[in-house]
Amino acid sequence: MSTHVTLIPGDGIGPSITNATVRILQAAGADLEFDSQVAGMAGVARFGDPIPDATLDSIKRTRLALKGPLETPVGEGYRSINVALRKTFDLYANVRPAHSIVPGGRYTDLDIVLIRENTEGLYVGVEHYVRVGDDPRAAAESIAIVTRQGSERIVRYAFEYAVKHNRQKVTVVHKANILKFSQGLFLDTARMVARDYEGKIQLEERIVDAMAMNLVLHPERFDVIVTTNLFGDILSDEISGLVGGLGLAPGANIGVNGAIFEAVHGTAPDIAGKGVANPGALVLAACMLLEHIGDDDRAQRIRHALETTIRDGKTVTRDLDGTASTDEFTDAVIAKL
Ligand code: NAI
Repeated sequence: MSTHVTLIPGDGIGPSITNATVRILQAAGADLEFDSQVAGMAGVARFGDPIPDATLDSIKRTRLALKGPLETPVGEGYRSINVALRKTFDLYANVRPAHSIVPGGRYTDLDIVLIRENTEGLYVGVEHYVRVGDDPRAAAESIAIVTRQGSERIVRYAFEYAVKHNRQKVTVVHKANILKFSQGLFLDTARMVARDYEGKIQLEERIVDAMAMNLVLHPERFDVIVTTNLFGDILSDEISGLVGGLGLAPGANIGVNGAIFEAVHGTAPDIAGKGVANPGALVLAACMLLEHIGDDDRAQRIRHALETTIRDGKTVTRDLDGTASTDEFTDAVIAKL
């Protein structure tokens, strides 16, 4: 039976790279049935809402979405797209694999997966100003909320990911030496979860500042990394930089009630409509979706076709120093399949 997937083409280069990705999935014989829905500026144009109820309802039904980049409309009164999606589907795990594909980069043999807690920490938005004398904004406080339940589910997700993908080690990144309560709770919980995987998956602990340096000096030493929201936000971009930037970076937001797969890059307004965007990141996100539904072999086949097309370097898009259009690049990947 086909798997139903909500397809959100998105804004800017979104429709073009989504179309390319769907063509590649179909050429690979993926048994997916797409329910196309709008969000972002396309959502505003059609329904006056960047995240229309029809789109949320579709994801509630399918519990799976493949999403192109979205432009968040500026101005008051619009719902934040990411917050709405994260809250509605409790998307607690942000998964960002980084793997060297393009030859000649700074590091040629990296294969790191960063798993970031997506719902807690300093990003919960509990903030306020503190008045001192007649200055109403003399100070400001932001509160980081870390729960045992939230920590346990993200660390367990990381260990389960490691088991499923034949990984060896999970590095827990924290700052428990200074933030003894919030980060301490995260670290204690991680140690507790790790006991269930003793003998199977190794636990490693790193303090975030040392981790930032180690990622630059010896990134090949890392395998799966799990950390809290703010540290994950920063380290995931650092790791993308190690493998050549955001151009080929996929991401997944996994939750209790759904999973959304997307490219990490944005709508690329400077090249939108020119037919030259690289669909690679969204194709890799689609491979993550296939793995999520257990179609690992097909994901592997598509990834191999994409990577060999890029390594051949003959028919690649401008961002990869080629001259091919989005369609020509897509045709080359399909030919490799
Ligand atoms: P961007 O990622 O769209 O573009 C940065 C640079 O990378 C541009 O030069 C662009 O041409 C290039 N680029 C990005 N993707 C590419 C691709 N697939 N092929 C070739 N070149 C590519 O970031 P920017 O300019 O900061 O943001 C533009 C818009 O995208 C904003 O409205 C922002 O809010 C939105 N955005 C949406 C995201 C999402 O929906 N997940 C994520 C990041 C940004």
